[in-house]
Amino acid sequence: MGGSIVWSTLIVGISPMPSSNKARQAMMQLINDTGTGPIFELGSGWGNLLIPLAKSYPQRTVVGYELSLVPWLASVILKKVLGLDNLQVYRKNFLYEDLTGASVVVCYLFPDGMHAVENKLNTVRGNLEYLISNNFSLPSHKPIKTIQIDDFYKSPIYLYELKYRTNNCEHKGV
Ligand SMILES: C[S@@+](CC[C@H](N)C(=O)[O-])C[C@H]1O[C@@H](n2cnc3c(N)ncnc32)[C@H](O)[C@@H]1O
Repeated sequence: MGGSIVWSTLIVGISPMPSSNKARQAMMQLINDTGTGPIFELGSGWGNLLIPLAKSYPQRTVVGYELSLVPWLASVILKKVLGLDNLQVYRKNFLYEDLTGASVVVCYLFPDGMHAVENKLNTVRGNLEYLISNNFSLPSHKPIKTIQIDDFYKSPIYLYELKYRTNNCEHKGV
């Protein structure tokens, strides 16, 4: 189990460390104002945010992508035990997945990961409207809101408005 986590940490560049309680609360607060569309979590770890999201928004589709085997498995078990029919959890690299179904994307990654996410989002068409990121900013976008959480580091939670549209490549906030 430990070996599998170390292996995936080396492959993806970050461990499955969960968001803190305060960061999670701030992210949930921002998600509250994002309408009713599907929420995709990129790198959903152990499900510390994913599961509360699926529970809090039973009418919204919630999708998690996680490459690390054991955390992914933990989320799959929780989904089954809690009967979360609106939740889908995939053991896949989100960089190679079709994200056009997303309305909101949430993540807690690392600087290089945010570069990769930004490049990926530039290819997404559909109705993606918001990205919410714990701690790490998108390199070429300006957030419309930043919450500084009350922890030792005053960690930021960023909200970006993206407005990617199917027939219109315009994106706001750049
Ligand atoms: C710091 S953890 C955050 C976990 C969770 N989002 C949270 O906030 O509690 C980042 C997770 O992203 C996963 N990850 C990183 N890059 C990934 C990729 N390209 N595809 C799927 N999962 C990825 C890692 O395995 C790790 O579990």
